[in-house]
Amino acid sequence: MRQLYKTASFDIPHASESNKLQRVLSSTIQNRSRDSAIAAASLSRYPHSPLSLPHPTEESACYWNAKHFNLQRAQLFQQATPQEQNAILQIASLSLLQEAYFIEKAGISYMAKMVALSESTDERMLYALFSADETYHLTQLLRFLPLHQTTVTDDPFLRFLTDLIEHQDKTVLLFILQVVLKGWVLSHYRTLASDCQNPELANILTGFLQDESRHHTTGITLFKQNPLTPETRQVIVEALVYFLRRVQTEPQSVVAAVNRVLGPLSRCQKIQLIEELQTEIHTGTRLNLLRSLIGKETAHTILNELEARQAFEPLPAYLCA
Ligand SMILES: [Fe+2]
Ligand SMILES: [Fe+2]
Repeated sequence: MRQLYKTASFDIPHASESNKLQRVLSSTIQNRSRDSAIAAASLSRYPHSPLSLPHPTEESACYWNAKHFNLQRAQLFQQATPQEQNAILQIASLSLLQEAYFIEKAGISYMAKMVALSESTDERMLYALFSADETYHLTQLLRFLPLHQTTVTDDPFLRFLTDLIEHQDKTVLLFILQVVLKGWVLSHYRTLASDCQNPELANILTGFLQDESRHHTTGITLFKQNPLTPETRQVIVEALVYFLRRVQTEPQSVVAAVNRVLGPLSRCQKIQLIEELQTEIHTGTRLNLLRSLIGKETAHTILNELEARQAFEPLPAYLCA
């Protein structure tokens, strides 16, 4: 029977620890890593490596502080015990890290798809190297995540990304994934790196920036070489409306972390929490960044339609709760 393989599935598991493939992967990473720190960080996941370190438990994973999440302003957080505050920060930190894990995993699939879609040998070579960049990024993040967090996701945004990578044409992919999302990831990682409490993880995230910047600028260059048809333009607008809607309703993961430790929260408590997190201000800043990324590369045609649909307006707390 014919089996259909999907290129972008985010939920494929890691090979089991006893699988010989892990040995090959760890020695390949060790041999090809551009510096020894990457090799050490990468290998620590693998049980056969002499550098193998225990994975963090959720208790040891408090990588970003209350100020990063703006939680110090929230009454619920202020009134929580130190243990509860710690638990909230750990859950919120791990969900940031898990998001980065899936961004990198998506990056490998996306770059591999672009290897197949390349129109010159040089373009193909570049995307194969980019796919390797994302592989190094992913391996470096793995050791900071508890094992059970590295396979399962029911995030609708990741399903949306999978669907895009699977079904959309090259121009749509270049614009959404490389121009907009990579530009966004670049700024997101910069903030994560500068606020990170763990010097080793901060260093790793800083190390991603140069690669991500190269992925982003290559996307801009190639997008400009691909004509934008009215149909492609419309697909891009619809995809961006969906993506921007998610940004408009942030930060759901912080609310979920508070809810898990102190909840169940009532709708009123959620609204108050979102207001105290000053979501509208922070979301406004993110939406402005996205507006400039989108507007810069599309001669404002896409931008105008998104503005008409109020995709750059931060939503009030009661619509995010
Ligand atoms: Fe990456
Ligand atoms: Fe990337």
